[in-house]
Amino acid sequence: MSSKTLMSMPTGFPPGNKQPCSLRRSFTYPSVSPCRSKYWFWVKSGAFALCAIFIMMPILEELPEIIRQRVYYHRIRAPFVFDLSHPAELALNHTINMYLEPEEGISLGIWHTVPDGKWKEAQGKDSAWYHRSLKDGSPVIIYLHGRTQTRAAKHRIGVVNVLSSIGCHVLSMDYRGYGDSTGKPTEEVLTKDAVWLQRWAKEHSGGSRVLIWGHSLGSGVATNTAVRLMEQGVLVDGVILEGAFKNARGAEPQSYFYRVIFLNSPCSAYFCNGFSCQTNFTKMRNPLLFLHSEDDHLTTLRNAEQMYQAALSVQDDKRVRMVTFEGSLGYLHNGLYKDPRLPAIIKIYILLR
Ligand SMILES: *[C@@H]1O[C@H](CO)[C@@H](O)[C@H](O)[C@H]1NC(C)=O
Ligand SMILES: *[C@@H]1O[C@H](CO)[C@@H](O)[C@H](O)[C@H]1NC(C)=O
Repeated sequence: MSSKTLMSMPTGFPPGNKQPCSLRRSFTYPSVSPCRSKYWFWVKSGAFALCAIFIMMPILEELPEIIRQRVYYHRIRAPFVFDLSHPAELALNHTINMYLEPEEGISLGIWHTVPDGKWKEAQGKDSAWYHRSLKDGSPVIIYLHGRTQTRAAKHRIGVVNVLSSIGCHVLSMDYRGYGDSTGKPTEEVLTKDAVWLQRWAKEHSGGSRVLIWGHSLGSGVATNTAVRLMEQGVLVDGVILEGAFKNARGAEPQSYFYRVIFLNSPCSAYFCNGFSCQTNFTKMRNPLLFLHSEDDHLTTLRNAEQMYQAALSVQDDKRVRMVTFEGSLGYLHNGLYKDPRLPAIIKIYILLR
């Protein structure tokens, strides 16, 4: 407002009455009345509360998803650069990408890798060839990965290559909500899908042996799957648990700090019963092989040993084995696939059982 208008204004209006607000306030009522201040207080508080609700609503709505993400880390898609439908780009030249539907509306991205002796024959082949080759009598291994990332993660491809090198078919699945699979992960649906895939593999391989490999969180899924199948009267041909964790709450990073900061317990409890608890190990009657690195920083060797002991309490040491890898090798939680002894260990301890 220019000084000119300020000067001219009072002339037309009786002072303190019809003047514009700004002027009235500063000239006629030097202080705001108590009534008014209370009014403004409530208006302001109300507006603030509305804003807060407005901001909090989406967060509250998202809370279950945030917790789900904390348990499964499924939205982390790295490596991003690869197209999951072209496994050949990842040097998996004897692998085909497929989508299977365990139930209506749910599509799971799965790679089928054939035994590597067939890699030359596999060049340029379509899904029908892969499908037929599943019936060649070689064992089939279902690979259930750990949390975060996709079936394209380096250490997962590493395991697939090892299994293929010892003459196995590998079905490497992204769980619901991971990679290009649809749906949302929960302990129940992960188990359900793995059970479904085991039955699919059994049927489509013409009855070849179907084993289950679970890494980290996948070890919980693998255990549940074996138990669930047993309840349905099916004995799994073998289960391999790499970097197994005792239960979601026992997926204890060694440091207390880490546990508290990342709210492991409450978050995990929210979305799963705890996966593989010791009681489930005492229910299993299939050959079982634990693989654990002594320097595993995410799932402790102590926990794996407890599960091993639980399994040993019901089956003898020919059916239940544990192989540990020296900490000095630096494999940590994901690196076991690098061990040159691994192919022989798998062959002797589980494939020949
Ligand atoms: C294809 O994969 C097999 C098995 O991993 C490997 O031995 C072979 O060298 C690969 N071939 C090419 C051309 O990359
Ligand atoms: C044990 O296995 C069953 C059957 O798959 C599963 O539902 C359950 O969550 C597992 N864990 C516990 C703690 O019972």
